Amino acid sequence: MQTENKPREEGGKRQRVRANMVNVYIMGKHHVVPEHATIMRAIEYAGHQIIRGAGCREGFCGACGTIYRLPGDYKLHTGLACTTLVKEGMSLTQIPSVPMEKAVYDLEKLTPDVNTILQVYPVTFRCVACGTCSKACPQGLPVMDYIQAAMRGDIAEVADLSFDCVACGLCALRCPAEIIQHEVGVLCKRLTGRYLRKESKELDERLQQIRDRRFDAEYAELMVMDKAVLSKLYYDRDIEP
Ligand code: FES
Repeated sequence: MQTENKPREEGGKRQRVRANMVNVYIMGKHHVVPEHATIMRAIEYAGHQIIRGAGCREGFCGACGTIYRLPGDYKLHTGLACTTLVKEGMSLTQIPSVPMEKAVYDLEKLTPDVNTILQVYPVTFRCVACGTCSKACPQGLPVMDYIQAAMRGDIAEVADLSFDCVACGLCALRCPAEIIQHEVGVLCKRLTGRYLRKESKELDERLQQIRDRRFDAEYAELMVMDKAVLSKLYYDRDIEP
């Protein structure tokens, strides 16, 4: 049996919502969507086709950064559209790309220290340690801490703290000092991989196996595999604890 939620006032109109449905405002327009939908599913349910702003749909690629507000809450929230669920009265807009100038550099000519941060992303040193970036991170990463580590030249610490960054850019969007934190993280991860980590015999062996085309037959098999079978294979795979 279908019931109705309590009516609500919006823009002078009373909105009645069926059970299991909620009111949301997508780019300012009112829609009624299923209550357990992710923001991404709600956008599609409302009739939009997402061309930019969706990739993995699993919280890994960072393509679906979104900002939203909730009724009675002053705060501008951030989240990933593919993993954040809608809430009654949510007002949202996707930010599929945050404009920025990505530095071009030759890793072989850089050193893993503070001079490189100064040279490649000098804007990093505008940080005022306000913590807005950390509050904006949908991954819950200590973004401000890794920017502070970058300012100290602790490249390995930046790589470690930013490891789970999905580069959605929401930290950069909110930063009052205009830093592009996720790119500083990428730079430090590259420097760490190139200069600070021990050589890996296993990695060298695996790369050689790839160069020797040892996995070509398996790749070919995967490329034509049915999506459901591929999905099962992916979720059943061995994952290191
Ligand atoms: S679509 Fe990849 S993180 Fe949301």
